[in-house]
Parts: sequence; C-alpha cells; structure tokens
Amino acid sequence: MNNRELSNREPVKARPFIKWVGGKGGISRKVLEHLPNEIENYYEPFLGGGAIFFNARKRLKNAFLSDVNAQLVQVYKVIQNNIDDLIRILDIHKKSHSKDYYYNIRSMHNLDNPVKMSARFIYLNKTCYNGLYRVNKNNEFNVPMGSYKNPAILDEKNLRACHEVLQNVNIQFGSFEDIEVHKNSVIYCDPPYDETYNQYTVNKFERDIQEKLRDKVLEWSRQGAKVIISNADTDYIRELYKNSVFTIIDIEAPRYISCKTDGRDSTQELLIML
Ligand SMILES: C[S@@+](CC[C@H](N)C(=O)[O-])C[C@H]1O[C@@H](n2cnc3c(N)ncnc32)[C@H](O)[C@@H]1O
Repeated sequence: MNNRELSNREPVKARPFIKWVGGKGGISRKVLEHLPNEIENYYEPFLGGGAIFFNARKRLKNAFLSDVNAQLVQVYKVIQNNIDDLIRILDIHKKSHSKDYYYNIRSMHNLDNPVKMSARFIYLNKTCYNGLYRVNKNNEFNVPMGSYKNPAILDEKNLRACHEVLQNVNIQFGSFEDIEVHKNSVIYCDPPYDETYNQYTVNKFERDIQEKLRDKVLEWSRQGAKVIISNADTDYIRELYKNSVFTIIDIEAPRYISCKTDGRDSTQELLIML
C-alpha cells in the first residue's frame, strides 16, 4: 500500500458486512476512546468482522488487516477489488434463497472462483444459524440454516461503502505471529477469548497461543508500537498480563442471547494496553 490516505468516499457509513462471533460492534466506542485520533499505521491482526477498523477508519492513514481464516480474508479482497461481480452473484442468492438452496450452496466446499466463494461465504453468514462460523475437521462449513423471515443477504449500499473504505488498505491472510510492524504503529488485537468460543478455524486458540500473543505484544511494544488487546476477564488472562507494563481496564460489554426476552445481557471484559 502506498502512503495514501484511506478513502473518504463512502456513499453510506460502512459497517461490518458479516455477523461474527466476538464482533466488537457493542464495545467499539469504548475501544475507540483509547485509540489516538490520528494513526499513521493501524494493524488489526484478528480481523473477523472488522468492527473496530470500520469505526476507526477516519483516523487511519494506513491500515493493515489480517486474519488466519483464509476464506474470510478472500472475501475482504473481493469486496476491495470485484464489488460488481460479487453483488451480481449475491443478488442471485437473494432471489433463490430457500432451504434446499441453502444446503446446496453449503455443500459447495471447493469453489475455486474467489467471487463465487465470497458470495457463498456472505450468503451462508446471513442465513445460517446465528451467523456462526464453524467448520469440521476437513475445513468444511457445517452450520445449519437459521430461521429468519427476511435475511439481509444483499445489502448493496453497505457493501459499496465497504468497497470504498477498503481501497488502499493492505489485506493479508496470516497468523499474528508473522506480523512485522512499521514505526508509528497502533495494533488492536481481538483474539479468540480465553474460556469461550475459540474455534474460528480448524485449529483452536488454546492457552499456549494466548501466551505467544502476550510475548508478541511485548515484542511489538519494544519496537515502538502502541498495542490494545481485548480478552475475557478470567484469572488466567489477568495472570498472563500481570506485568506492570500493561494497563488493564475492566469494561462491560453487551452479550446477545436470543432466548432471553429482550435478547440482551452483559458481561465483563478486559482491555489491556501498553
Ligand atoms: C474475536 S474474533 C475477532 C472479531 C472482530 N474484532 C470483529 O469485530 O468482528 C477473532 C478472530 O481471530 C481470528 N484468528 C484466530 N486465530 C488467529 C491467529 N492465530 N492469527 C490471526 N487471527 C486469528 C479468527 O479467525 C477470528 O476472526
């Protein structure tokens, strides 16, 4: 990516184009309070639905987004580069949606056309049970269909806004361990949480990887980066980040539970900074 400002030409305010377990929409304001107003190099290595990136975009000069979910990363690249073709295929999915159609599309595990693969990914995300992303040991998506009256399979305005925001953004597949940061960097890390859902890909995010992340964060900090990490409020995470170089803040985060009458509850989380 050249040192150009990120695009400011959104037709509407871009928001995450998928539902994602652990999505940070509910706490984005609290995270943004701790981000500088102007960021030369912004990194989000656990991208998921990208809620913080989309909310912070006006503050960012350069953005480097990555995730270890290869299909998800491909979807971002297709939105960046092939938006018209993507919208055309999503429109077909929208018009054809039914139970049989869902399971037929779900069975197409090996699409090699990136645009068709991305349209399938978004279609399944919008119509599957709770927007869950779960794969079997062969990396095949296996979530059943959800029951929605009118799923938002194609939100063209938002997809076009995301397309604009993603221009000049560096989007990479890869694990956080491989990230080399530039000078003047801010890194927001939102890993799979301790003691909660941790199977976004075939490989689980176990505690040995939480430890590797803590060590990597210390390395980035030694290189001059400012780092913010979200995680669950567990004894293990407090112990992992007990070194006084870290500042730990408790925050209350909304938790959406469909079986409750108002569908909402809250939970304690941590923001860890250095
Ligand atoms: C809690 S979610 C991020 C949610 C995101 N902040 C949002 O607003 O939607 C965690 C993400 O980390 C990714 N992930 C898991 N292991 C990873 C690794 N080793 N390196 C990079 N990303 C990883 C998962 O694929 C998942 O998208």
